[in-house]
Amino acid sequence: MKFFIDTANLAQIKEAEELGVLDGVTTNPSLMAKEGITGTDNILKHYVDICNIVEGDVSAEVVSTDFDGMVREGEALAKLHDQIVVKIPMIKEGVKALKYFSDKGIRTNCTLVFSAGQALLAAKAGATYVSPFLGRLDDISTDGLNLIAEIRLIYDNYNFQTEILAASIRHTMHVIDCAKLGADVMTGPLSSIEGLLKHPLTDIGLEKFLADYKKGNS
Ligand code: E4P
Repeated sequence: MKFFIDTANLAQIKEAEELGVLDGVTTNPSLMAKEGITGTDNILKHYVDICNIVEGDVSAEVVSTDFDGMVREGEALAKLHDQIVVKIPMIKEGVKALKYFSDKGIRTNCTLVFSAGQALLAAKAGATYVSPFLGRLDDISTDGLNLIAEIRLIYDNYNFQTEILAASIRHTMHVIDCAKLGADVMTGPLSSIEGLLKHPLTDIGLEKFLADYKKGNS
């Protein structure tokens, strides 16, 4: 399973990269705004800054909603750096843009996916990644993990190569459950990755090992 961090915060991206298990970054316009990154030039520069910190894929989202606009924006984003993956919303014009980019060999991440039907369409259009938002489904009392399982089944039935990028991850159990279900990638906050580290028996065991070592070596 690949680990992506879902933020535009450079300090957090560096911290995750230093852990040594980071495979990429996802961003969206809300995450960029949260960091105060505004204006086309600053936004494009920020994507390059992120690419210079991590070795893996960096999703950069278009803000146009028409085919021509998405193509124009996506081509400019893809030219920025070879790590850039163009993030396209799951709307009708977006499906056309996914197919266009797929035919041109430009990698894409189909975002805002909330149903198995949308995921099927994204795969048919040749998306590199599909992003089902499981946390946002959980927020409205709908089983987000069930969507991951449905997409896994459908993609395996037809051997689709589109990778399932479990998005809108809120906590560590989401990461573990997605791994059990065979999601190819998770993207979430650094806390959801760091939570994997924690077990009280590890802390108690280490404390005892160090105390015993100290007794025999002081
Ligand atoms: C995915 O690429 C999105 O950026 C993200 O996971 C959305 O998560 P949220 O529901 O926590 O905003």
